[in-house]
Amino acid sequence: MQAIVDTLNSALNKNLQDGRGITRADFPDGFVFGTGTSSYQVEGATTEGGRGIGVWDDLTLRTPNKVADGSNGIIACDVYHRYKEDIRLMKQMGFDSYRFSISWPRILPGMTPFVTLFHWDLPNCLQLEYGGMLSDQVVNDFVEFAELCFKEFGDRVKFWTTLNEPWTYTVMLYTPGDDFAPNDPTSNDSTNVQSSSQGGQRNLPSHRLPKKVRQFASTNQTINDNVFPGKIDLATDAYTVGRNLLLCHSAAVQSYRTKFQMYQNGQIGIVLNSSYHYPFDSNSQDDQDASKRAIDFMLGWFLEPVLYGQYPESMLQYAKGNIVPFSEDEQKGLAGSVDWVGLNYYTSDFVTYEKSPPDCFAMVVDSSTGLYDHLQYLQNKYKQDMPPLYITENGVADQNDPSLTAKEACVDETRVQYYQEHLAYLLKAILELAFDVRGFFAWSYCDNFEWTSGYTSRFGIIYIDYINGLTRYMKNSALWFANFLRGSATTSSALEKRQVEKDSERASKKRKAT
Ligand code: BGC
Repeated sequence: MQAIVDTLNSALNKNLQDGRGITRADFPDGFVFGTGTSSYQVEGATTEGGRGIGVWDDLTLRTPNKVADGSNGIIACDVYHRYKEDIRLMKQMGFDSYRFSISWPRILPGMTPFVTLFHWDLPNCLQLEYGGMLSDQVVNDFVEFAELCFKEFGDRVKFWTTLNEPWTYTVMLYTPGDDFAPNDPTSNDSTNVQSSSQGGQRNLPSHRLPKKVRQFASTNQTINDNVFPGKIDLATDAYTVGRNLLLCHSAAVQSYRTKFQMYQNGQIGIVLNSSYHYPFDSNSQDDQDASKRAIDFMLGWFLEPVLYGQYPESMLQYAKGNIVPFSEDEQKGLAGSVDWVGLNYYTSDFVTYEKSPPDCFAMVVDSSTGLYDHLQYLQNKYKQDMPPLYITENGVADQNDPSLTAKEACVDETRVQYYQEHLAYLLKAILELAFDVRGFFAWSYCDNFEWTSGYTSRFGIIYIDYINGLTRYMKNSALWFANFLRGSATTSSALEKRQVEKDSERASKKRKAT
């Protein structure tokens, strides 16, 4: 106990609130630091090695207008061919682990592999054959894919993730108001984002913008979509897809636990995402209730089934008639179906209660305190039921600016500051709340294909020079991580660094003007 108190005091003395001064040495022994990518976003080589066609090939090639810059992942960052160079760079920076996904349409891997089975690249033939995740037929196919991976790679892979962000796949593909989806049913944008009071909205990719998550629960509208076969029923589709994803997860976990885990000795979990939802007016009971419901409809939707085998009470109540509760057998399969849980955390927002349409929310804030508050909320709500947690994604994007040289674009002080602050609040949660967090993965290792934002959005700590042979350069954030992971704290002030950024912006404007 005294040791924890000493560590806490020493960390607090290091200006914990803004992260300056902390290093990996402040985190508990064995804490994992990694970076992440996903197959379609970085691999390229989409026609090599017998790979099949995925839904993202179809979307980007058949309807390039759905991607901001009309791009696709055919070449992406060519990680398929250059992974050795990339692993070397990760080692050079001092990371312990690499979070990546196995391309389901491709059927792949020293770092500790943290492997995702489903990071949204469903084989297109399954989408065409039975509507993909809209049909429970997908469960057997997913288990077959998962078993092949366990069998082939389970001797080396000790951390399996069944699904990445089922919420995003579900809500962004099967509710109105977003153009994220291959089969987005409508272009009618129902978001009602108010401007943020704290720093404004960053250049968030479209699927990171807040949505009126509750609205689709009460609509009965049916829209036919001729892009993909399958039923498009706005009142129920998202719940059906979310349900099938959970059943895929539970079936894959059951298979791993009964056939592989005892001799492969790995762990299996799920990666969920959630912003922290603050009540807009903390004195309003309605806003307080709405913010809790918003967490249920984002995180609880998938977390409670894998913990307890059931949806959150608020979902069953508000989406009654549209959401199908789990059968007894399904509940048994789902309850406790995680050895660990991953949380992808980017931003927080404010929620306000609206009567019509009921219960909408808005406003994005960038907030490292949100990470701490979120963990505190989870700890209070789920207590000892909360399994060990990994922060499986955290990061911030820059808008691609073609007028910048690679060197200029590598001056990413906003990202350095973002990581400093988020790691500081994560450390605070570990030390003050004794939250069992076992690792942190920066998203992303390198700039990559950001889904429907294409290459317009750069999330990497490694810069990819798309027009000069995909050369990799370390951004300042990569150098910051290298120092941090080596145990040397960064001491230069974030403000001084931002000045460097401003100078470089001025230089680029000058170049454009001449
Ligand atoms: C996804 C990544 C994505 C990142 C940034 C997460 O939703 O898992 O694939 O690139 O956020 O938007």
